[in-house]
Amino acid sequence: MKRLKGKTTVITGGGSGIGLSASKRFAAEGASVIVLEVDDSSGKKVEREIIDSGGACRFIQTDISDVSSVAAAFAIIQKDYAKIDVLYNNASVFLGKLDGPVDTLDFMTFEKIVKINLYGLFACSHYAIPLMKKEGGSIINTASSAAVIGIPNCDAYTASKGATVALTRSFAVEFGPFGIRTNCIAPAAIMTPMVYESNLNDPNFDEKKFLSTGTPLRRWGTPDDIASVALFLASDESSYLNGAIITADGGITIS
Ligand SMILES: NC(=O)c1ccc[n+]([C@@H]2O[C@H](COP(=O)([O-])OP(=O)(O)OC[C@H]3O[C@@H](n4cnc5c(N)ncnc54)[C@H](O)[C@@H]3O)[C@@H](O)[C@H]2O)c1
Repeated sequence: MKRLKGKTTVITGGGSGIGLSASKRFAAEGASVIVLEVDDSSGKKVEREIIDSGGACRFIQTDISDVSSVAAAFAIIQKDYAKIDVLYNNASVFLGKLDGPVDTLDFMTFEKIVKINLYGLFACSHYAIPLMKKEGGSIINTASSAAVIGIPNCDAYTASKGATVALTRSFAVEFGPFGIRTNCIAPAAIMTPMVYESNLNDPNFDEKKFLSTGTPLRRWGTPDDIASVALFLASDESSYLNGAIITADGGITIS
């Protein structure tokens, strides 16, 4: 039996990295996957690939930082699907060249990052939850190691991810009575385009040292490592998890 058979799942940022892997995994497990992605070409590509491999996918071009774009996407979903079983709030940006410590960070950058990472999660949840309240479902939020330990030079990103952890707990108690479980994955060091923004583009980052002593598992994580956790949270196998913050980081934040 496929693990997500009959479930309507909405994944933000499904065109790249972890979201791309999760979109394919969810579809392979029988879900109807709706990808909300700002990038038109990667969104169309994942839609085509899933359909070509026999899965169900619909790409709706959406900028999650723009409330009218999010409202329009969920109006389509309400009309065509009526309900949502899973909302995977995955899309975010890191913007390593622009983000920084609070005393030097410019306000425009702070606003830009928070608007995508936090306001975007807020907007998608705002429109998705009414479509989940009747039958219940699963919300999967995405934080980061930056929400668990102190990481320098990315204070806007950290603010957005700390708030994501806090909102996960609020959602869990607010919407648990409706059968909606909300949990959060806090990844680190997953080899996606974002890792170039956060680590590999930094001339001071020593990849050899990171892989030999910086991470207990001695390897980068893969998008599939995280998609597997998301699949578990999306499925009924995690039926008694609500409000959990799952660090999926190879042990980086405890070492
Ligand atoms: N890669 C890591 O090591 C790592 C570590 C910690 C947390 N995370 C988190 O995991 C999640 C996925 O990250 P990833 O590494 O796969 O990144 P990624 O850059 O590969 O993918 C992010 C996706 O989000 C989309 N996106 C960006 N802005 C958007 C917007 N305004 N509207 C809609 N879509 C938008 C991008 O186009 C892209 O497809 C993010 O929330 C990220 O913060 C990743």
